[in-house]
Amino acid sequence: MELEKFVDPMPIMKTAIPKKTSKDGDYYEIEMKEFSQKLHRDLNPTRLWGYDGQFPGPTIEVMRGKPARIKWMNNLPDTHFLPIDRSIHHVAHEPEVRTVVHLHGSETTPASDGYPEAWFTKDFAEVGSFFEQETYEYPNDQRAATLWYHDHAMGITRLNVYAGLSGLYIIRDPREEQLNLPKGEFDIPLLIQDRSFNDDGSLFYPAQPANPAPNLPNPSVLPFFVGDTILVNGKVWPYLQVEPRKYRFRILNGSNSRSYQLALDSEAPFYQIASDGGLLRRTVSLQAFDIRPAERIEVIIDFSKFEGQTITLKNNASTDATADVMQFQVVLPLSGEDTSIIPQNLSYIPSLQQNDVKRIRNLKISGTTDEYGRPLLLLNNKLWSDPVEEKPCLGTTEIWSFVNVTNVPHPMHIHLVQFQLLDHRAFNVELYNENGQIELVGPTIPPKINERGWKDTITAPAGQITRVIARFAPFSGYYVWHCHILEHEDYDMMRPFVVIDPKTEKERR
Ligand code: C2O
Ligand code: CU
Ligand code: CU
Repeated sequence: MELEKFVDPMPIMKTAIPKKTSKDGDYYEIEMKEFSQKLHRDLNPTRLWGYDGQFPGPTIEVMRGKPARIKWMNNLPDTHFLPIDRSIHHVAHEPEVRTVVHLHGSETTPASDGYPEAWFTKDFAEVGSFFEQETYEYPNDQRAATLWYHDHAMGITRLNVYAGLSGLYIIRDPREEQLNLPKGEFDIPLLIQDRSFNDDGSLFYPAQPANPAPNLPNPSVLPFFVGDTILVNGKVWPYLQVEPRKYRFRILNGSNSRSYQLALDSEAPFYQIASDGGLLRRTVSLQAFDIRPAERIEVIIDFSKFEGQTITLKNNASTDATADVMQFQVVLPLSGEDTSIIPQNLSYIPSLQQNDVKRIRNLKISGTTDEYGRPLLLLNNKLWSDPVEEKPCLGTTEIWSFVNVTNVPHPMHIHLVQFQLLDHRAFNVELYNENGQIELVGPTIPPKINERGWKDTITAPAGQITRVIARFAPFSGYYVWHCHILEHEDYDMMRPFVVIDPKTEKERR
């Protein structure tokens, strides 16, 4: 289906309104519902699932240090409208429609983190084995950053997110406010997602291949899904009318599998100011940048010299229709002097020290095939249900080395922490596969200049070892780490880890 580009204005998600506010924090109730929404001028309304009945969900805006409590409520129908795969061993007998919400990038307790097996059904009638509480608590005790919330239910995350269950969560703080960055109506999120549609306007998502071996742990793997249509903030290839001034854009790649290389078809550069975990040390001027699933990149674009012009946000990773993302039309009159600035220096980021490291873990990312020739995607050759191996001690620093022996990059994500990228290094994959010995090849590849801030999701390129350093705090208990290609995550490229509190020595479960 060919949809005309740049015919719909880009919506901006509305801000969630707390049900109660007090000086101890805000309380929200957010309901997941089924509804239909028009995603393009020429498309029938599309059946979707969304938080508060919106796609994307409402933006939750909080100040650092002010906690938020959210009761996430599942009021979805009893059956899924996308093809679920009953052959995944650990979801074979679970209710079809299950949800759990994860706030990606947040420092929160295990009970509020959205553990995949903490799922719940309508009215909490049935819950997963890790379910602990109905109302989630977010301390918001971390620096200003663009986080996002999305579904994380075991084995069906790719379907629930694809159906519409994602939204933004913005933490602000006074320090960032002082910087005089573009704010208010000039601070705009761009949530980029790809979808495919059937002619009747419904979402298209492929059914799994028939399962010839129901007893296999991971029988029918769908390694990847990319849609042929790009949406920003829930509209297909929209346009945004802007004033000739500076804007801050909080860009999130909320796609299941697709990566983008974003660029503008004009001379205007991007000034990147923030990554996943908030402001960088210094502003970085870029002509193009990669953004993989779950990554956030915040940029300032200065439209002041482009009055009357139309600028297209391109995706240079594609050559088909998905090479376009959206359009900026610099047609609005200047509503007042632009006093915002693009500061050179943005924030202080301490470097995590390698001599504090308690433990280095080599974590293998591999793809293999089962006896039927189908792909199997694994971390450390383990299935989701295998016993926990990664058990950092509370408050200690570790280096996690992602050893990618597959031939594609994987965006690796660790819950609870913001980490720092140390480096990438090519290695001898064949030798490693033979006897597990790591032979490094070629030079150390330092982080790109825009990858030197806080990250929670990092690209682990094929044939390379990607080393990140993290301090596991401030909470202990069960979390997960996984590839954020949702099709990989659902098919076992996800593992639990547990932060151990040495005082209690307890692994809470
Ligand atoms: Cu954005 Cu574990 O997820
Ligand atoms: Cu996360
Ligand atoms: Cu992956």
